[in-house]
Amino acid sequence: MSFYLTPVTGELLINREKELDQILSELVKKNSRIGFSLTGVRRIGKTSILKEVKKRLEKEGIVVIYISIWNTTPDTLETFIANLFDYTIEAFKDKFPLKMKISNLIKMGRDGINDLLKHLNISIDFGNEIAYTVSYVKGEESDISKATSNIFNLIDRLAEKTKTKCVLIIDEFPSLIELKIGKKMIGSSIIKTIRTINEDYKKTALVISGSFMHTMQEVALLSSAPFYKQLVNLEIDSLEEKAIQDFVKKYLKKKISKNGLDTLIEKSSGIPYNLQMLGRELNKLKEDIIDTSSISKAIDEILQREGDIHFKDYLNMMQSTEIKVVKTMAVSDVIGPKEIADAGNMKLNEVTALLQTLLDKGIVSKKERGQYQFTDNMFKTWLNRAYS
Ligand SMILES: Nc1ncnc2c1ncn2[C@@H]1O[C@H](COP(=O)(O)OP(=O)(O)O)[C@@H](O)[C@H]1O
Ligand SMILES: [Mg+2]
Repeated sequence: MSFYLTPVTGELLINREKELDQILSELVKKNSRIGFSLTGVRRIGKTSILKEVKKRLEKEGIVVIYISIWNTTPDTLETFIANLFDYTIEAFKDKFPLKMKISNLIKMGRDGINDLLKHLNISIDFGNEIAYTVSYVKGEESDISKATSNIFNLIDRLAEKTKTKCVLIIDEFPSLIELKIGKKMIGSSIIKTIRTINEDYKKTALVISGSFMHTMQEVALLSSAPFYKQLVNLEIDSLEEKAIQDFVKKYLKKKISKNGLDTLIEKSSGIPYNLQMLGRELNKLKEDIIDTSSISKAIDEILQREGDIHFKDYLNMMQSTEIKVVKTMAVSDVIGPKEIADAGNMKLNEVTALLQTLLDKGIVSKKERGQYQFTDNMFKTWLNRAYS
């Protein structure tokens, strides 16, 4: 079997049935508008779950629109609106009565839409919403806030018109705030707009995801945040022992010793992306049975070849004092604030504050009271190699 560094669905998706059940049992209800917010660190498998949700809901005849903020390039609100419009029309195309011929819109391109709308028997209001969005996307209109409300309203109007339940999935939702209008960032006003429209949705449920706990909290989870009470929060965790065993069985088709399994669990931190990377490497080895030493070999190989590319990314998210804390944790193998402060020659209260920001960024997690661990042990191993 091949290994995947991009999202997986179907057969390739290990475990996650519990999460899928919880999400799907609500989203399939034709009259429920309850949505979800998925949080979990990068590479834990959020997008994979969302894509699987999309597939399964579509089998039930539900219209699903999936859009990722991280795939919005250039990262402007204009691009986001244009993409969302395209995906919306694409998602609904099979639901329209034939006489509306909306599916032709895609083939015709945006230019033909205005003309076509005139010939179609569409209520004026509704036609106007499409026409406005189209003319905005074509650059004939410039009111960006009107275009934003318009596209979000249009989605629910299409759902009502076609008598379908719709699920709108926005992956990496908090990054909406970082999209630009001209050279300026949008700020949180767009999130408020979406919240207000979402409150009035009749046939549409919203599902969002976010990789950073603190930004997700700001936009969705705190009682002062816009989506509090509108969305059910679901935390996506790393894979557990049983799932990791399943991964080995399914992907590797090799045996693994008990020690080997323990090492794999520890070194990968149960992060699916790490398992895919390690799996690819382990697959190249001659050994039929994977043990601790095969895993060390595989990790060495990966870190040497591509560790810098991967983990410089992590470093870019951190301030120099935060980097000092994680380096100390990795090199001196310490987990308590006091030990870190001693080993790193830093002040205890400074270390405590930095551990909090590292927690917010998802770089470390709490093991027990006063004990911190790396969310991603591959990062720890890399730091060790780079700085010991
Ligand atoms: N349940 C799973 N089983 C197997 N591989 C997975 C699973 N979930 C994620 N992956 C793999 O992990 C990587 C990250 O997954 P992705 O869904 O993109 O995570 P996220 O969106 O949280 O960053 C991808 O390489 C994907 O193939
Ligand atoms: Mg993702």
